[in-house]
Amino acid sequence: MSFPVIVIGAGGHATVVADALLASGVEVLGFTDPLPALGGERRCGLPILGDDGILAEHDPAAVRLANGIGSTRANDATSLRVRVQTHLESRGWRFVTVCHPAAIVSPFAQLGEACQIMAGAVVQPNASVGKGAIVNTGAVVEHDVSLADWTHVAPRAVVCGDARVGPGCHIGAGAVIRHSVSLGADVVVGIGAAVVKDQSAAAILAGVPARKLDRKT
Ligand SMILES: CC(C)(COP(=O)(O)OP(=O)(O)OC[C@H]1O[C@@H](n2cnc3c(N)ncnc32)[C@H](O)[C@@H]1OP(=O)(O)O)[C@@H](O)C(=O)NCCC(=O)NCCS
Repeated sequence: MSFPVIVIGAGGHATVVADALLASGVEVLGFTDPLPALGGERRCGLPILGDDGILAEHDPAAVRLANGIGSTRANDATSLRVRVQTHLESRGWRFVTVCHPAAIVSPFAQLGEACQIMAGAVVQPNASVGKGAIVNTGAVVEHDVSLADWTHVAPRAVVCGDARVGPGCHIGAGAVIRHSVSLGADVVVGIGAAVVKDQSAAAILAGVPARKLDRKT
């Protein structure tokens, strides 16, 4: 049974989430956004319903949520994407998995709760995608890859076979992670980087081959 869905957030990532849900035939009621000025505006032909307070008008048993909050950095427990979903789950709300019909997901891959696989993405056999993770537009997650919870593989990034990506990592757009490489929690990989070595601690990696930037994730 498919429930109607409200998308939390009304920014760019939220529109991509809504578009994928609509393409999958899911009924989307609209978006929430904390900015009152946006109330009444529309995105993807759908209304911005108000801030998260409007959820009080709905029954968590009859409506599901989708996380429309995107990220460009590590998704640790303090990130907005994680905090908002965790808070709403503690209030009884359930978040849907999003999988665009134009994504190719092997039946031998494992998709975690409320992960999001966008248009043109490929997830190969024995790959696992953790809770709340995003495999964004056109990204490739190769065979036997493990993406831990809340990871984000940004558009056109490639995670090669057997690689291990720790919780909260952000793999920047167009980056490549070499086969069998392991990344620890909250590693941020810059756009276009080529990561060829393991990185156990949180760090920002950039360049080809990737090196640590002297900054916080
Ligand atoms: C790597 C990244 C996190 C660094 O961001 P930042 O900490 O704000 O760093 P800055 O932009 O101030 O850049 C710091 C230095 O690193 C360099 N740099 C930044 N990103 C780089 C990248 N991807 N590759 C190579 N060098 C990079 C900058 O040129 C700058 O060099 P300088 O000090 O010699 O001038 C960011 O540039 C990035 O790539 N984020 C991922 C974005 C993404 O994936 N977006 C898609 C979301 S769907």
